[in-house]
Amino acid sequence: MIQPTPGEVAVLDYGSQYSQLIVRRVRELGFMAHLYPPERLGELQSPGAIILSGGPRSTSDLDAPDVDYPKLMAFNVPVLGVCYGMQLLNIKHGGTVKPGVTREYGPAKLVVAAECALFKGISHESQVWMSHSDTCANLSADTRVIATNEDAVPVALQWSDRCFGIQFHPEVTHSHEGTSILRNFLTQTGAQLAKFDIVAFKDQMISRIQAEVGGREVICGVSGGVDSTVLAVLLQRAGVKVRAIYINNGLMRLNETAEVKAQFEEVGVPIEIIDASERFLTALKGVTDPEQKRRIIGTMFVDVFWGVADNVELLAQGTLYPDVIESATSGSIASKIKTHHNRVDRIMELKAEGKVLEPLAELFKDEVRALGATLGIPHYALWRHPFPGPGLAVRVPGEITEEKLAITRHADDIWIKELRRSGQYERVWQAYAALLPVKTVGVKGDERSYEAAISLRAVVSEDAMTADWVELPYEVLRAASNKILNSVKGINRVLYDISTKPPASIEWE
Ligand code: XMP
Repeated sequence: MIQPTPGEVAVLDYGSQYSQLIVRRVRELGFMAHLYPPERLGELQSPGAIILSGGPRSTSDLDAPDVDYPKLMAFNVPVLGVCYGMQLLNIKHGGTVKPGVTREYGPAKLVVAAECALFKGISHESQVWMSHSDTCANLSADTRVIATNEDAVPVALQWSDRCFGIQFHPEVTHSHEGTSILRNFLTQTGAQLAKFDIVAFKDQMISRIQAEVGGREVICGVSGGVDSTVLAVLLQRAGVKVRAIYINNGLMRLNETAEVKAQFEEVGVPIEIIDASERFLTALKGVTDPEQKRRIIGTMFVDVFWGVADNVELLAQGTLYPDVIESATSGSIASKIKTHHNRVDRIMELKAEGKVLEPLAELFKDEVRALGATLGIPHYALWRHPFPGPGLAVRVPGEITEEKLAITRHADDIWIKELRRSGQYERVWQAYAALLPVKTVGVKGDERSYEAAISLRAVVSEDAMTADWVELPYEVLRAASNKILNSVKGINRVLYDISTKPPASIEWE
């Protein structure tokens, strides 16, 4: 559990999908911020400011989440309520909230109605993003309306020189001056805030790691992905004795093991490569059920890793902040899956013994990249697409064979190289080629061919829970398709996957 920090901006999470984004925006503005369930308000240690997030509920619901108002006010720091947070504050200040019939969702005009710290320097009519159905009504006599929408409905309220409420979401980019409004709240209201900058934070992390590790040996699994790479390098820079273990499960991409080895050599961290490919591929022989494939791979990975990592003094994991946040939405399927992934039994036992180190647990992905850059990790390593633990097994539906893996690797390599060549790689969140379990008729030379089809995928996503396919230029698709059709043996058809998630998933299996 993350411990409250003096001077931080404490964001109370009422369950909005944007709650984490508020924390990220505040940190981007250079101030420390953490997200807390509203019940933890009493545990805060002299916060510098408090923001109440939006949320999906209505304040009129019988079990609507509340705020301990006397406690909130006792901190005597600037307070900002966003959407649901504003409605809650309005009620606490003697106003009411009118249940909405329809949801107002999308862009709206913010008409600034009064001079105030929050809207200093903000255009008179600025685009903001709304997502709510209830609205504030029957404002108390001491409530000041500082902005309305175009229909003169109050959308921003002020109750004192340090207490504000806004109906819109300043944290989303569709609120054009949202960041400036947040900055005003943090800098124009007299808040005494703890600073956040990644270089200073790196030094703090290194001191904390040194204190926590003592003289123990630290073991960690590395995949070559950004989190495990930054973790291993950070540990090494902290002067810790690290054993970085990379398991080749035989389901990696073309030249991946060699590339990961070179990547770690470049940053000066030696890794132990365990080649378990034969073991994995033998266990997968004849298996076609996707869930069974995953189970076999997952269990074997754990067996191989713990087979090597005996007598662990300390295990380091690249767990990130979104995985440890106890948010109002922590009952969601997403966090359950992650919890399962990161907290398998053996790790829970080690945790109980105080043998698990999670140095990145306060950081978001983009902050991990920034940290990696300050550690001198090369750009390409920090911007590698995510790659699933079960590797190509989830991209080769049906039984896995060496031949199918070879075809998939070759096509995938062409696809990724084409994305890099055309400058599209970093625009894309994740891309890969999958080998479809069908044969299709074609002509090659003068002959009829009966070969397999490759499906290319390229998606953008924020957190992998939803994803959209990327509208790539036709010339990129054409070049990749031509190269695959001309050089990958066994393929006579190339498809581009235009499925969003949901309902599709990012991977094929
Ligand atoms: P799906 O296919 O569920 O994928 O839309 C969402 C994201 O998760 C990755 N993924 C995995 N990562 N172990 C992992 O470490 C897994 O078992 C696994 N399954 C999917 C996938 O690549 C995508 O980024």
